[in-house]
Amino acid sequence: MDKPWWKGAVIYQIYPRSFKDANQDGIGDLKGITEELDYIQELGVDAIWLSPIFKSPMKDFGYDISDYLEIDPIFGTMADFDRLLDAAHERGIKVILDQVYNHTSDRHPWFVESRASRDNPKADWYIWVDGEKGQAPNNWLSYFGGGAWEWEEARQQYYLHLFVKEQPDLNWRHPDVRKQVMDSIRFWLDKGVDGFRFDVVNLYYKDERLRDNPTKYPDEPIAFNRHHHLYTRDRPETEGAIEEIRELMDRYKDRVSIGEVATELGQAQYFAYTRPNRLNLAFNFDFKELRPFAAKTYVEHIKLNEAVFRDFAWPSYVLGNHDSKRFLSKLGEGEDAVRKAKVLAALLLTLRGTPFVYYGEEIGMREAVIPYEKIVDPQGKNLWPNNVGRDGCRTPMPWNASPHAGFSQTEPWLPIGEDAREVNVERQKAEPGSMFHYYKQLIRIRKESEALRFGRLELLDTKDPALMGFFRIGESERVLVLLNFEDRKVVLNLKGFGVEVRRYIGGTTSRPERFNAASTSLEPYEAAILEVS
Ligand code: NOJ
Repeated sequence: MDKPWWKGAVIYQIYPRSFKDANQDGIGDLKGITEELDYIQELGVDAIWLSPIFKSPMKDFGYDISDYLEIDPIFGTMADFDRLLDAAHERGIKVILDQVYNHTSDRHPWFVESRASRDNPKADWYIWVDGEKGQAPNNWLSYFGGGAWEWEEARQQYYLHLFVKEQPDLNWRHPDVRKQVMDSIRFWLDKGVDGFRFDVVNLYYKDERLRDNPTKYPDEPIAFNRHHHLYTRDRPETEGAIEEIRELMDRYKDRVSIGEVATELGQAQYFAYTRPNRLNLAFNFDFKELRPFAAKTYVEHIKLNEAVFRDFAWPSYVLGNHDSKRFLSKLGEGEDAVRKAKVLAALLLTLRGTPFVYYGEEIGMREAVIPYEKIVDPQGKNLWPNNVGRDGCRTPMPWNASPHAGFSQTEPWLPIGEDAREVNVERQKAEPGSMFHYYKQLIRIRKESEALRFGRLELLDTKDPALMGFFRIGESERVLVLLNFEDRKVVLNLKGFGVEVRRYIGGTTSRPERFNAASTSLEPYEAAILEVS
């Protein structure tokens, strides 16, 4: 098997607005990230992925770009970016950028020109359709609520926006658009960035005939603002586009391409984007939604994933990101949730597949409750109260217990989480058993083990519903991961499975000597990583 760095890497997602504010305007910036590279290095991750930092009117907080080749002044300058890139590279940390090529901002000069008339040079760079004012061309919906078409007086036509109306969708069928995208990718690769996360990569192409989407999922009643996106995603032409991206990126050394595949269709789609000549990785969001919290739930999912990906493509796993409720808060309240979160962190960081960690997960950050008046996310503003939006998972990183949590010296753009006095970096570092030290340990263990980074995965039938077990089998090492998903002790006869423990590698216990014998027991919610014969 080839072993590119990104297969063995742990990738840390930073939401730049909320990581660290160096210029004291209440919004995080690139200098702030550079200041905290020591922290990132101490955590031990291999790469950081920055949510968009490009010029933007910030209608969707950077996912509405008005210049793909410029840094937004809120985040700093190109010189600040170059410094961050160099400083990260000096520490051996790779930098991945987030590019949004499905749509631009409506303030992008391309769209300003495009919307002005029907016959300008960029007239067809977006998806324009004739129609009657007040009568949208079809039933396509915006992911952020309401219809996906907006009327433009100047052209007497509609344009498509699958997100807010200030995010017009690009027309990928136009060769000049495709060329611009490739040029922009090349620009950043030439600068030395280590890869990209491609926003909603499976939406690039839409049905050319503009057929209505079915209003129901085949086997599901229609849910709030959710319908089958049959004709607005996963169109066959997308494959050609990502093959072209891949070809371009392969001309550079050691770069990674990661697709955000916006789908609820599961493995099959996600796999399609990671076939050998497509992208290197695509996000698998399934762990974010899996219920109930039980070994079986995850085992079933892993089985499926392994069966689909085999040796052919490389899986990935995430527990959370900037679009969904913080995973700790999905697990309940108090210490019980923290113990469950530790089980999932061990799972994430020992599976076969690239793990992503969202900033703050490593200190046990919870979802913040944002009162309606303070909501800034368009999704929350448009869909409230059915959908409270994504501000709660994007609150500033709490560095210490000072008034603005050490994030800034001034009022931040989103409120600091209510629990920041107890849950913050400084405090976590001071507590040996904290989530931070646990993540640090797990990341180090992964880094030191060839089997954990690249090895095969083999599930162990533990015969106990509380317990998940799997081997990671490397070239010269066999690692057994045991995870107790229940609040009860579990006894396990390892000898009966033909396994002998050679060494306790890590986990949640402070008494690793318990694992010397061939028979063992796992405490409630215990995670144990063992080298075995
Ligand atoms: C997916 C991104 O993760 C999300 O934050 C954004 O709002 C949409 N794409 C639109 O770009």
